[in-house]
Amino acid sequence: MGFKQRLRIAWERLEGAFTRSFGPAWNPFFQLGALGWFFYWIVAVTGIYLFIFFDTGVTNAYQSLEEITRAQWWAGGVMRSLHRYASDALVVVMTLHMIREYLLDRLRGPRWLAWVTGVPMIWFVFIAGVTGYWLVWDMLAQYVAIVTTEWFDALSIFGEPIARNFLSPTHLSDRFFTLMVFAHIVVPLFLLLVMWIHILRMSDARINPPKGLAIGTGATLLVLSLVFPAVSQAPADLAVVPATVQLDWYYLNLYPLFDYVPRPVMWVLTVGFSTFLLLLPWLPPRRRAPAALVDLGNCNGCARCAADCPFNAITMRPRSDGLPYEQEAAVDSGMCVACGICAGACPTATPFRRRALLVAGIDLPQLTVRELRARTLAATSALRGPVRVLVYGCAHGTRLAALQQPGVATVELSCIAALPPSFIDFVLSGDHADGVFLTGCREGDCHHRQGIEWTRQRLAGERDPFLRARVPRERLHCCWSGLAQTAVAVRELSAFRERLAALAPAEGGTPAAREEAGHA
Ligand code: HEM
Ligand code: SF4
Ligand code: SF4
Repeated sequence: MGFKQRLRIAWERLEGAFTRSFGPAWNPFFQLGALGWFFYWIVAVTGIYLFIFFDTGVTNAYQSLEEITRAQWWAGGVMRSLHRYASDALVVVMTLHMIREYLLDRLRGPRWLAWVTGVPMIWFVFIAGVTGYWLVWDMLAQYVAIVTTEWFDALSIFGEPIARNFLSPTHLSDRFFTLMVFAHIVVPLFLLLVMWIHILRMSDARINPPKGLAIGTGATLLVLSLVFPAVSQAPADLAVVPATVQLDWYYLNLYPLFDYVPRPVMWVLTVGFSTFLLLLPWLPPRRRAPAALVDLGNCNGCARCAADCPFNAITMRPRSDGLPYEQEAAVDSGMCVACGICAGACPTATPFRRRALLVAGIDLPQLTVRELRARTLAATSALRGPVRVLVYGCAHGTRLAALQQPGVATVELSCIAALPPSFIDFVLSGDHADGVFLTGCREGDCHHRQGIEWTRQRLAGERDPFLRARVPRERLHCCWSGLAQTAVAVRELSAFRERLAALAPAEGGTPAAREEAGHA
């Protein structure tokens, strides 16, 4: 097992602890992107309030903020604290979100767009934070102003060193300060634009956390704001050099480095690290799985595949082949992550079809529905013993190898929702196995975003294609355990087999009858 895989398992264990406390729906780790949006909106709304009362001139900025904080502590003061704490929280969730997407390998293929747009978002968040501290115009702001401008001066792109503006009271420039106010407003607007591009390739992107989580997080920020209100430090005084300032470790965490590392080297480090991040989706290069293919002869234009694709890769367009349907499906191969969920949704993807050549309306070239039927039959034909179970699992969750034992066969799919529900009916009604066990990613965190949810809805008869009512539900078990919790799947599989052993024999006979018929 490689280093990254070990890290991933450790990370999943940490997240598992949160699932046990909050439940899968409210696990903050599963909602980091949505929480990022939530904090963004808190920062935006509180920022607008503060801006109404804030004096944007350098001479009155400090005083106006003091009045906002003290004279109306119950409104302006709380707004300022919320503005500060929601901004801090944004840095925390953004950092965790980035580490998580990397460890869970959700940055390759068409997901590169989300990853690559994430990198400028980091810069925008930090620029917004640093200029925000600047506006307070206290000792910390003075320190930030001097260090930042000296850092930019190292680029030698300005005619005159801009750090001069902050080195003596006689040079203090109101215009430069107003420019920072402007940057503090415009950069978050750019951030919003890039946040929108960031989620373009995802259908129903989670940009709102569940209500309970939002209320809980919002209430925590409010309590923090009331107990530890955000305040300014001593007013800026360009006649003195700030000796000790209380740093903010969310936004200014790199600033202490400026005391030790030369400014040009800091540029090399920050730009170099950003470039490295930008290249990560292709490091190391890997072959991309081929995109889903539509077979027009089998497509009736029902649009189920388009409705279920989690990555907006399918569009329905007017019929082009003269068949008597209004629409046909078309896949944008640049956006397809090859999850196979579309094949799991297609009504033509059924193993019961008698046509010699089983071809679905939409299929993954690397595991067609026809091949899936062949693998199902091959796996089950090798099953022996009184309680035969076929496990369908996905490639991103539970380790299927750990489930293998006598009487159990496994078939791996790219996503559990790539399995058309008719396969479960096919296996059970054809007595190919006594039970079917579905497993994959963790509840609330499907690698392909919506696979678990669609599977649940299909099995419950809430989403096409339904699992037929005739399928005995007691012979089907779902276990969403994920990679780190494979042991849970092993236990659930044993318990499922015990339950199956205690059931009345399935259609097709008792184990003994099967034995007589030469099955075992
Ligand atoms: C302001 C900060 C950020 C916000 C608000 C944010 C928000 C989001 C949201 C809402 C999603 C969609 C989640 C879903 O519905 O499945 C998402 C996905 C994603 N984000 Fe971010 N993000 C931020 C920063 C970043 C950064 C810094 C990176 C990495 C450099 C990043 C990488 C990704 C990737 C790769 C995905 C795609 C995941 C997938 O395809 O399943 N994000 N983000
Ligand atoms: S689900 Fe199948 S039949 Fe329906 S539009 Fe998509 S490819 Fe065509
Ligand atoms: S395999 Fe199908 S569902 Fe998955 S991304 Fe591609 S088109 Fe969408």
